[in-house]
Amino acid sequence: MAKIIDGKAVSAAVKHRVKEECDRLKAKGVTPGLAVVIVGDDPASRVYVNNKKKACELVGFHSEEYALPEQTTQEELLDLVDKLNADKKIHGILVQLPLPKHLDDKAVIAHIDPNKDVDAFHAENVGKIMIGEYSFLPCTPAGVMELLASENIEVEGKSCVVIGRSNIVGKPMAMLLLHKNGTVTIAHSRTKNLKEICLGADIIVAAVGIPKFLKGDMVKDGAVVIDVGMDRDENGKLCGDVDFAEVEPKASYITPVPGGVGPMTIAMLMQNTLTAAKNSINEG
Ligand code: GUN
Repeated sequence: MAKIIDGKAVSAAVKHRVKEECDRLKAKGVTPGLAVVIVGDDPASRVYVNNKKKACELVGFHSEEYALPEQTTQEELLDLVDKLNADKKIHGILVQLPLPKHLDDKAVIAHIDPNKDVDAFHAENVGKIMIGEYSFLPCTPAGVMELLASENIEVEGKSCVVIGRSNIVGKPMAMLLLHKNGTVTIAHSRTKNLKEICLGADIIVAAVGIPKFLKGDMVKDGAVVIDVGMDRDENGKLCGDVDFAEVEPKASYITPVPGGVGPMTIAMLMQNTLTAAKNSINEG
């Protein structure tokens, strides 16, 4: 029987901490501000953006939403980013991904002022993470580290397997575990002996985007299992990358979907926006 890590409770605690800090900054005349840009009408993106707005209200941030039509041009989007880069009320800029196909997401990310890049997607921030000197951590991997810390789960010396190598989750996740002195393997779709590799792991982070991918026979007794997936099962029901029914009896700790990593992503975005506001007055 695994202990289920309650992402909602940990997320609420992080947001509470951010709100207290926000009140303190406001007393100094600075209100942290986040601008969220969404292009087109992808329903999942719409839900994420609404949740981000609600979280801003909860912690007391100024928030602005820019909902642009599907046919927005690259130039129009870059012009908006320029305007937000120069806006003193805005400390964090988040352009919701994925963008419509005709837009170049890499060029858009490169255009965001790295000091306002609260996703930590800009090459400058990615580079800082590599050398361990960062202001912002990408929200989902940072949320996973917060969940591990909330249960005092030690990473040092542990065998950690990250399944998935995306720029948003897998690669930075591996780096954060490495910074905590974990021994890290990044597995992916071409990995040959995945089952054996997972069976050797003390900590597994599943971020492949395939419903119920991690099965019970891939997990050793007592492993810590973190599920970053947000998938739909064969009945259209929300599920993760981990087959929860099979893995839960073997794991020592496990995160549920929903209610595990998901709520952490937004909490860490609030934290990054707070950091950006502090940095803007050299309080970082
Ligand atoms: N789309 C899904 N997750 C994210 C995220 O963390 N940041 C942005 N900008 N877009 C996303």
